[in-house]
Amino acid sequence: MAVKSALINVMFSAADKASRRMMRDFGEVENLQVSRKGAADFVSQADIAAEATIREELEKSRPDWNFMMEEGGSVQNDKEAPTWIIDPIDGTTNFLHGIPHFAISIAVLKNDKLTAGIIYDPCRNEFFHAEQGTGAFVNGRRMRVSGRRQMADALFATGIPFLGRGSEETDAQFQEELNRVAKSSSGVRRFGSAALDLAWVAAGRYDGFWERGLSPWDIAAGIVLVREAGGFVSDFSARDLAFKSGNVVAANSALHVPLLKTLRG
Ligand code: IPD
Repeated sequence: MAVKSALINVMFSAADKASRRMMRDFGEVENLQVSRKGAADFVSQADIAAEATIREELEKSRPDWNFMMEEGGSVQNDKEAPTWIIDPIDGTTNFLHGIPHFAISIAVLKNDKLTAGIIYDPCRNEFFHAEQGTGAFVNGRRMRVSGRRQMADALFATGIPFLGRGSEETDAQFQEELNRVAKSSSGVRRFGSAALDLAWVAAGRYDGFWERGLSPWDIAAGIVLVREAGGFVSDFSARDLAFKSGNVVAANSALHVPLLKTLRG
């Protein structure tokens, strides 16, 4: 079992506190499925409330740090200090539809580098964490990326472009990539939370993941997890620009290049 650092404990407590109301709200959302109006307004309130709780908790322990948040935007307290990157509910569409697959994601950006990340899946009670140079863990147990070396044995995750995302050109590109990866591997999954997709690559459940057009809060913590679990994360041209561009290709070390090549065709 790993001993969590003080920083990870702060992140964990914030996620834990926010998750309690989140799970009550999720129960409510399941009831709202049958209503004609749906649960959209309720869910955006749940998202905002979770983010407020996380921010309040983090601010108590690090009052001068900055924030980059999905709901609340950027807050600068001290430009020399690190930045918290927060996604209160990654997988909001799942949450809205009563599907139990979403997560809280919190990362630390320090001197332009992602140095720590936690992802908490409240439905499975799985707490993933990683800090630069100290490895990656799930519920305190060390995690490593998978050891599979052949595309034919590998299972990948991706994100399918949806309404308001991408262009005709990138949609066609995605369909071709999906065909190529699906036909050369054991399969492709689309579960709807990029944060959990990356956490599951770090845990060795998926062998790799790719998606374009993601936001910093969707991927910041997941990038730290995959790297600390021994995997590689890049953009589609193998550059260390996944976080900056939002275009992510992540995989274990043996399959990162084969996945990039398959995507390129
Ligand atoms: C979304 C999820 C999803 C991905 C979308 C993201 P959100 O994040 O990560 O898997 O395909 O591109 O926007 O909106 O639920 O925080």
